[in-house]
Amino acid sequence: TYVVTEACIMCKYTDCVEVCPVDCFYEGENMLVIHPDECIDCGVCEPECPAEAIIPDTEPGADKWVEMNTKYANAWPNITEKIDALPEADAKAEEEGKLEKYFS
Ligand code: SF4
Ligand code: F3S
Repeated sequence: TYVVTEACIMCKYTDCVEVCPVDCFYEGENMLVIHPDECIDCGVCEPECPAEAIIPDTEPGADKWVEMNTKYANAWPNITEKIDALPEADAKAEEEGKLEKYFS
């Protein structure tokens, strides 16, 4: 599976949702997640994200994101169409520590 990681937090460019063939993105207030059980591993969303927030679960450190994506994909609504990015997206894209800062 692929998962959405920290770079998405406070950005939500949503270019990813437009290309997903199985519509497995879910929308929270500050970020999107992928439902790991629905993702078919096609990889087309990965290069679409301007923040480079999408990674395959084979990448080192991906485990906590798989857990997080699973948790929230089961709680948040599905999103299938692109919407406006959050207002500070460009400024926040590379900020670190966003998970702790905005999800605690
Ligand atoms: Fe959707 Fe493919 Fe991305 Fe999985 S890898 S979320 S199926 S576009
Ligand atoms: Fe987030 Fe990138 Fe999609 S910032 S909403 S994963 S395009």
